[in-house]
Amino acid sequence: MGSIIHFEEIDSTNNYLKERCASLPHGTIVTADRQTAGRGRFSRKWESQTGGLYFSVLIKPQHTHFWPNFTQLMGLSLCRAIEKLFPNTYLKWPNDVLADGKKLCGILSEGVLAGGRLEGMIIGTGVNVGQRTMPPVGQPATSLYMLGVQTDKHLLMQDIMHYFWQDYPAVEQQGFAAICGPYKKRFPFIGKDITVKNGEKPLFGTVRDVSERGTLLLATASGQEEIYIGDLIV
Ligand code: BTN
Repeated sequence: MGSIIHFEEIDSTNNYLKERCASLPHGTIVTADRQTAGRGRFSRKWESQTGGLYFSVLIKPQHTHFWPNFTQLMGLSLCRAIEKLFPNTYLKWPNDVLADGKKLCGILSEGVLAGGRLEGMIIGTGVNVGQRTMPPVGQPATSLYMLGVQTDKHLLMQDIMHYFWQDYPAVEQQGFAAICGPYKKRFPFIGKDITVKNGEKPLFGTVRDVSERGTLLLATASGQEEIYIGDLIV
Protein backbone atom coordinates (compact mmCIF):
# COMPACT_ATOMS: atom_id res chain seq x y z
CA MET A 1 0.00 0.00 0.00
CA GLY A 2 2.44 2.67 -1.13
CA SER A 3 5.84 3.32 0.38
CA ILE A 4 7.06 5.32 3.37
CA ILE A 5 9.40 8.21 2.60
CA HIS A 6 11.26 9.55 5.64
CA PHE A 7 13.07 12.87 6.19
CA GLU A 8 15.03 14.07 9.18
CA GLU A 9 13.92 17.61 8.35
CA ILE A 10 11.46 18.98 5.82
CA ASP A 11 9.37 22.15 5.50
CA SER A 12 6.08 20.26 5.73
CA THR A 13 5.20 16.64 4.94
CA ASN A 14 1.91 17.94 3.46
CA ASN A 15 3.83 20.23 1.06
CA TYR A 16 5.97 17.32 -0.14
CA LEU A 17 2.94 15.26 -1.16
CA LYS A 18 1.02 18.23 -2.57
CA GLU A 19 3.86 19.01 -4.94
CA ARG A 20 4.14 15.38 -6.12
CA CYS A 21 0.52 14.26 -5.93
CA ALA A 22 0.26 13.33 -9.64
CA SER A 23 3.33 11.10 -9.68
CA LEU A 24 2.97 9.28 -6.35
CA PRO A 25 0.61 6.35 -5.78
CA HIS A 26 -2.36 6.08 -3.45
CA GLY A 27 -1.15 5.16 0.03
CA THR A 28 2.23 6.92 -0.04
CA ILE A 29 3.25 8.12 3.44
CA VAL A 30 5.79 10.84 4.21
CA THR A 31 7.22 11.20 7.72
CA ALA A 32 9.69 13.65 9.23
CA ASP A 33 11.55 14.01 12.52
CA ARG A 34 10.94 17.76 12.42
CA GLN A 35 9.29 20.32 10.16
CA THR A 36 10.52 23.86 9.60
CA ALA A 37 7.14 25.12 8.35
CA GLY A 38 4.57 22.75 9.85
CA ARG A 39 1.06 23.98 9.13
CA GLY A 40 -2.19 23.61 11.05
CA ARG A 41 -5.85 24.27 10.28
CA PHE A 42 -7.06 27.82 9.60
CA SER A 43 -3.51 28.86 8.46
CA ARG A 44 -2.10 28.30 11.92
CA LYS A 45 1.47 27.19 12.54
CA TRP A 46 2.06 23.64 13.84
CA GLU A 47 5.01 23.45 16.24
CA SER A 48 7.15 20.63 14.85
CA GLN A 49 10.26 20.23 16.96
CA THR A 50 12.07 16.89 17.36
CA GLY A 51 10.14 14.40 19.49
CA GLY A 52 6.77 14.68 17.77
CA LEU A 53 5.33 12.38 15.14
CA TYR A 54 4.67 14.15 11.83
CA PHE A 55 3.30 12.27 8.85
CA SER A 56 1.11 12.74 5.81
CA VAL A 57 -0.76 10.13 3.80
CA LEU A 58 -1.74 10.53 0.14
CA ILE A 59 -5.07 8.96 -0.75
CA LYS A 60 -6.77 8.81 -4.13
CA PRO A 61 -10.39 7.87 -3.37
CA GLN A 62 -12.49 6.39 -6.19
CA HIS A 63 -14.98 9.24 -5.86
CA THR A 64 -15.29 12.48 -3.94
CA HIS A 65 -18.63 12.02 -2.13
CA PHE A 66 -17.10 11.24 1.24
CA TRP A 67 -13.76 12.96 1.21
CA PRO A 68 -14.19 14.99 4.47
CA ASN A 69 -14.93 11.72 6.25
CA PHE A 70 -11.41 10.35 5.65
CA THR A 71 -10.13 13.05 8.01
CA GLN A 72 -12.60 11.87 10.63
CA LEU A 73 -11.42 8.31 9.99
CA MET A 74 -7.86 9.43 10.73
CA GLY A 75 -9.07 11.09 13.98
CA LEU A 76 -10.77 7.85 15.00
CA SER A 77 -7.66 5.82 14.08
CA LEU A 78 -5.49 8.11 16.22
CA CYS A 79 -7.88 7.74 19.13
CA ARG A 80 -8.02 3.94 18.82
CA ALA A 81 -4.24 3.63 18.82
CA ILE A 82 -3.59 6.17 21.58
CA GLU A 83 -6.34 5.13 24.00
CA LYS A 84 -4.46 1.82 24.44
CA LEU A 85 -1.57 3.85 25.87
CA PHE A 86 -3.59 6.54 27.68
CA PRO A 87 -7.25 5.70 28.30
CA ASN A 88 -8.54 9.28 28.81
CA THR A 89 -8.14 10.04 25.10
CA TYR A 90 -11.14 11.21 23.08
CA LEU A 91 -12.31 13.10 19.99
CA LYS A 92 -13.31 16.72 19.68
CA TRP A 93 -15.34 17.16 16.48
CA PRO A 94 -14.37 17.18 13.70
CA ASN A 95 -11.00 15.54 14.19
CA ASP A 96 -8.93 16.80 17.11
CA VAL A 97 -7.70 14.26 19.63
CA LEU A 98 -7.59 15.40 23.24
CA ALA A 99 -6.08 13.69 26.26
CA ASP A 100 -6.97 14.87 29.77
CA GLY A 101 -8.68 17.87 28.13
CA LYS A 102 -5.58 19.02 26.25
CA LYS A 103 -4.75 18.85 22.57
CA LEU A 104 -2.56 15.85 21.74
CA CYS A 105 -2.98 15.48 17.96
CA GLY A 106 -4.10 17.57 15.01
CA ILE A 107 -4.98 16.79 11.41
CA LEU A 108 -4.72 19.04 8.36
CA SER A 109 -6.30 17.59 5.22
CA GLU A 110 -5.77 19.19 1.84
CA GLY A 111 -7.25 18.31 -1.54
CA VAL A 112 -5.24 18.59 -4.74
CA LEU A 113 -7.26 19.59 -7.81
CA ALA A 114 -6.17 18.97 -11.39
CA GLY A 115 -8.32 19.91 -14.37
CA GLY A 116 -11.32 20.53 -12.12
CA ARG A 117 -11.23 17.08 -10.49
CA LEU A 118 -9.84 15.92 -7.18
CA GLU A 119 -6.55 14.23 -8.00
CA GLY A 120 -5.75 13.28 -4.44
CA MET A 121 -6.14 14.17 -0.84
CA ILE A 122 -3.40 14.61 1.72
CA ILE A 123 -4.11 13.83 5.35
CA GLY A 124 -1.38 15.40 7.49
CA THR A 125 -1.18 14.31 11.09
CA GLY A 126 0.80 15.62 14.04
CA VAL A 127 1.00 13.75 17.33
CA ASN A 128 2.79 15.19 20.35
CA VAL A 129 4.77 12.16 21.45
CA GLY A 130 8.12 12.81 23.14
CA GLN A 131 8.13 16.59 23.66
CA ARG A 132 9.17 17.47 27.23
CA THR A 133 7.19 20.72 27.16
CA MET A 134 4.70 22.22 24.72
CA PRO A 135 5.04 25.85 23.62
CA PRO A 136 1.86 27.95 23.97
CA VAL A 137 -0.31 27.20 20.92
CA GLY A 138 -3.47 29.15 21.73
CA GLN A 139 -5.04 26.26 23.64
CA PRO A 140 -3.78 23.82 26.28
CA ALA A 141 -1.63 21.15 24.64
CA THR A 142 0.13 18.07 25.93
CA SER A 143 2.36 15.22 24.77
CA LEU A 144 2.35 11.51 25.54
CA TYR A 145 5.62 12.02 27.45
CA MET A 146 4.01 14.75 29.59
CA LEU A 147 1.17 12.31 30.30
CA GLY A 148 3.69 9.75 31.56
CA VAL A 149 3.61 7.56 28.44
CA GLN A 150 6.82 6.57 26.69
CA THR A 151 6.35 4.94 23.31
CA ASP A 152 8.11 4.37 20.01
CA LYS A 153 6.62 6.84 17.53
CA HIS A 154 7.22 4.55 14.53
CA LEU A 155 5.28 1.69 16.15
CA LEU A 156 2.57 4.18 17.07
CA MET A 157 2.29 5.31 13.44
CA GLN A 158 2.03 1.68 12.30
CA ASP A 159 -0.82 1.10 14.72
CA ILE A 160 -2.63 4.29 13.64
CA MET A 161 -2.29 3.29 9.99
CA HIS A 162 -3.47 -0.24 10.75
CA TYR A 163 -6.78 1.19 11.99
CA PHE A 164 -6.94 3.68 9.11
CA TRP A 165 -6.55 1.07 6.32
CA GLN A 166 -8.83 -1.36 8.14
CA ASP A 167 -11.84 0.99 7.82
CA TYR A 168 -10.78 2.82 4.62
CA PRO A 169 -12.76 0.60 2.18
CA ALA A 170 -15.96 0.96 4.23
CA VAL A 171 -15.60 4.77 4.46
CA GLU A 172 -14.88 4.94 0.73
CA GLN A 173 -18.19 3.13 0.08
CA GLN A 174 -20.45 4.48 2.84
CA GLY A 175 -18.80 7.62 4.23
CA PHE A 176 -19.10 8.53 7.89
CA ALA A 177 -21.97 6.06 8.44
CA ALA A 178 -19.33 3.30 8.40
CA ILE A 179 -17.61 4.70 11.52
CA CYS A 180 -20.41 6.68 13.17
CA GLY A 181 -20.81 4.25 16.11
CA PRO A 182 -17.14 4.00 17.15
CA TYR A 183 -16.67 7.74 16.52
CA LYS A 184 -19.58 8.78 18.76
CA LYS A 185 -18.41 6.38 21.48
CA ARG A 186 -15.27 8.53 21.71
CA PHE A 187 -17.01 11.92 21.42
CA PRO A 188 -18.06 13.00 24.93
CA PHE A 189 -19.65 16.34 23.99
CA ILE A 190 -23.23 15.28 23.16
CA GLY A 191 -25.51 17.27 25.48
CA LYS A 192 -22.77 19.79 26.31
CA ASP A 193 -22.96 23.55 25.75
CA ILE A 194 -20.23 24.69 23.39
CA THR A 195 -19.17 27.41 20.94
CA VAL A 196 -18.28 26.72 17.31
CA LYS A 197 -15.93 29.05 15.48
CA ASN A 198 -15.48 28.81 11.73
CA GLY A 199 -14.13 32.20 10.82
CA GLU A 200 -17.49 33.91 10.93
CA LYS A 201 -19.53 34.79 14.01
CA PRO A 202 -19.19 32.21 16.80
CA LEU A 203 -22.24 30.01 17.28
CA PHE A 204 -23.38 29.00 20.76
CA GLY A 205 -25.50 25.98 21.46
CA THR A 206 -25.94 22.50 22.86
CA VAL A 207 -24.48 19.57 20.95
CA ARG A 208 -27.37 17.32 19.91
CA ASP A 209 -25.50 14.72 17.86
CA VAL A 210 -23.06 13.93 15.10
CA SER A 211 -25.06 13.06 11.98
CA GLU A 212 -24.56 10.04 9.70
CA ARG A 213 -22.79 12.49 7.38
CA GLY A 214 -20.28 13.43 10.08
CA THR A 215 -21.69 16.94 10.56
CA LEU A 216 -22.32 18.47 13.98
CA LEU A 217 -25.95 19.02 14.99
CA LEU A 218 -26.18 22.00 17.32
CA ALA A 219 -29.31 23.26 19.06
CA THR A 220 -29.08 27.06 19.09
CA ALA A 221 -31.42 29.82 20.23
CA SER A 222 -32.68 30.10 16.64
CA GLY A 223 -33.16 26.37 16.00
CA GLN A 224 -31.03 23.39 15.00
CA GLU A 225 -27.94 24.11 12.90
CA GLU A 226 -25.98 21.57 10.90
CA ILE A 227 -22.29 22.50 11.02
CA TYR A 228 -19.95 21.27 8.28
CA ILE A 229 -16.68 22.83 9.42
CA GLY A 230 -15.39 24.66 12.45
CA ASP A 231 -13.47 24.60 15.68
CA LEU A 232 -15.24 23.52 18.85
CA ILE A 233 -14.48 25.66 21.90
CA VAL A 234 -15.36 23.63 24.97
C1 BTN B 1 -4.27 21.33 13.44
O1 BTN B 1 -4.29 22.56 13.26
O2 BTN B 1 -4.74 20.83 14.46
C2 BTN B 1 -3.70 20.42 12.40
C3 BTN B 1 -2.23 20.19 12.57
C4 BTN B 1 -1.65 19.26 11.51
C5 BTN B 1 -0.14 19.10 11.61
C6 BTN B 1 0.41 18.06 10.67
S1 BTN B 1 2.07 17.62 11.07
C7 BTN B 1 2.22 16.73 9.58
C8 BTN B 1 1.51 17.53 8.51
N1 BTN B 1 2.38 18.53 7.93
C9 BTN B 1 1.98 19.78 8.19
O3 BTN B 1 2.56 20.81 7.80
N2 BTN B 1 0.86 19.75 8.92
C10 BTN B 1 0.43 18.40 9.20
